[in-house]
Amino acid sequence: MLPRMIRCSIALVVALTAVARGQVYAQLHEGVYRVDASAEARAEALPSLSFALPEQREAYRPLDDDGPVLRPRFSQEDGRQIIVIDIPAGTSLYATGEVPGRLLRNGMTNTNWNSDSYAYTIDTPSLYQSHPWVLGVLPDGRSFGVLADTTWRSTFDLRDGIRIEADGPPFPLILIEQESPIAVVRTLGELVGRIEMPPKWALGYHQCRYSYFPDDRVREIAGEFRKRDIPCDVIWMDIDYMDGYRCFTFSPEHFPDPASLNADLHAQGFHTVWMIDPGIKTEDGYFVYDQGTDLDAWVRRADGTVYQGEVWPGMCVFPDFTNATVRAWWAGLYEDFLATGIDGVWNDMNEPAIFNVPTKTMPEDNHHRADASLGGPGPHAQYHNVFGMLMIRATREGVMRVHPDRRPFVLSRANFIGGHRYGAAWTGDNIANWEHMEWSVPMTLNLALSGQPFAGPDIGGFIGNGGETEEDQGRLFARWMGFGTMLPFARGHTGKENRDKEPWAFGPEVEATCRRAIQRRYVLMPYLYTLFWQAHTRGDPVARPLFFADPRDPALRSEDDAFLLGGDLLVRPFMTPDRDRAVTMPRGAWRRFDFADRIEGDDSDPDLPELYLRPGAILPTGPVMEFVDEKPLDPLTLLVNLDERGRAIGVLYEDAGDDWGFRDGAYALSVYLAQREGDAVRLRRLTRLGSFDVPERRVRVIVLDDTGRHEAIGPDGAVIDVPLKP
Ligand code: GLC
Repeated sequence: MLPRMIRCSIALVVALTAVARGQVYAQLHEGVYRVDASAEARAEALPSLSFALPEQREAYRPLDDDGPVLRPRFSQEDGRQIIVIDIPAGTSLYATGEVPGRLLRNGMTNTNWNSDSYAYTIDTPSLYQSHPWVLGVLPDGRSFGVLADTTWRSTFDLRDGIRIEADGPPFPLILIEQESPIAVVRTLGELVGRIEMPPKWALGYHQCRYSYFPDDRVREIAGEFRKRDIPCDVIWMDIDYMDGYRCFTFSPEHFPDPASLNADLHAQGFHTVWMIDPGIKTEDGYFVYDQGTDLDAWVRRADGTVYQGEVWPGMCVFPDFTNATVRAWWAGLYEDFLATGIDGVWNDMNEPAIFNVPTKTMPEDNHHRADASLGGPGPHAQYHNVFGMLMIRATREGVMRVHPDRRPFVLSRANFIGGHRYGAAWTGDNIANWEHMEWSVPMTLNLALSGQPFAGPDIGGFIGNGGETEEDQGRLFARWMGFGTMLPFARGHTGKENRDKEPWAFGPEVEATCRRAIQRRYVLMPYLYTLFWQAHTRGDPVARPLFFADPRDPALRSEDDAFLLGGDLLVRPFMTPDRDRAVTMPRGAWRRFDFADRIEGDDSDPDLPELYLRPGAILPTGPVMEFVDEKPLDPLTLLVNLDERGRAIGVLYEDAGDDWGFRDGAYALSVYLAQREGDAVRLRRLTRLGSFDVPERRVRVIVLDDTGRHEAIGPDGAVIDVPLKP
């Protein structure tokens, strides 16, 4: 190591040389750099809309090490900034946000331009969300990330190294270089923020369709779940609850009394999520239109007139979410809406999607009266990619104003990198076929690697029925539900013209599979909730690619049939009807297990994915229940797979589930250690942190080994010995 002073002056020389060449390097943190095309570009850069604390990006610290290994080359062509980064051979590329297809992104190109991309294919250049970000894993497992910090349309071309092209003025490039892929994702979280702790009910299973109506049909669906013992936490209301698709209204015919509907569902342990779109019907006398018009809230055309575009209700106007006054008004609209007992909000069509125009969105020269802190007034081209993010930011604020003591839940179709701070994501209008089913894993994973851990597909597929025959349709549905419940956001949804797709709609065999798949999610809830807490506090992805288990193993780099849930659980679905595709497993004694002790038939259902436990892991699990926290976590069942040293460790996070008490210490963080001692395994609770009151309960320890399962039960906190011999 060189003495610090010498290193500093070398750094200064490097920094100055960089300046001399044009580019300006600054250091944000250890291994995090900002690179600008020139001092002038740096001075004129637009504010960051991705950073949680935009001023963090502006701090100028000269390099205090040798700077990044990767050296981007900047150039300008026809008013576009182009950045080229050479990468070493054998580098694997991932992320780039919401992209169709497989996990590995080498050789792919995508354009960041939020688009309503119904029935997307592998060739669709832009989906609903934009994450101008790529993650690279070098052959030795060291990793990097590149963020093009611009909201303008950008293209990531990964066919030969990394080539980024963007419209608009020059923008800063953020470069992260770390020891491992997870370290890069965590560092990204430090910059663009991490998710807030979601309400626990949002981790349950969600049931949706376009649309359940009238209200009695909603009651019937909810009733079926309880009658059939299929767990479910949330029922969703799609646009047909509205009066003529007017947002913030209820159909007098089909939903005359939303408050009693919500109350009835709450009484059975359900929560409800209702949709709100950005398109507001142009109609004098409609209160939202009148209020917004008085406020001058609508996005305008370049010529200054109010822009109108067609969406569900016919001609619509669109709130200018780039403006703080408009956002505050929008937030206020949720007060009466939520007073009916609505728990969560679904914001859709917020790319924004416009019907019957070739671009499917508003003109790029439309005018936004954006806050100075966002970059000031500017064309739609500048704000298009953040329209959805700013909408859900306002929605979230509105929900929090009404229920400051509860955790908000918002789902959004459009978003921008960093927008996971405001809402969860689903992968839009996918197709009910085997290819889209297969993509739903890598798509969720690449979103997770782009900072959005709370994501999942429309389970069962939004478009179509999933095959010609009833049997084909049922098989696809069973498989999809089988692993869909293992993804961070688990919601069944389907489009208007399709057949029924509730878990029971395909007959008893598929229903049994769906029940098992959903019950597994609830049995795993203690673990899943702990993972969300780790996403919130550390920026860890909830679902992760298999190569996270061993970033140095080249064989894992493109494996995306199977995935990891957290660090300890491997989920291996079967993505072909004949279950004939092999999966590359990480090295080490990952041990297969099931929940046949709590879920009937769990060990023999061919449509469920196989589950494997990492060597050295303790998996906290609970009883089957109909909705989260229906029953106490008693017994807490710990599944143990010892490593080669005969040890395993596991963490369990608990709190009240839907308030902010955890911020003041009202949580319980328990660490369990299992250790082989002679012919037994000794389980101890090493610590319990936090002030959340966990009632006395039993801990059931199940040790898995080559000879089978070994079990013992005792009070939580006591030493529990599990004999390995009968
Ligand atoms: C869009 C959404 C879909 C929703 C439909 C009707 O297509 O992507 O999920 O059901 O609009 O609101």
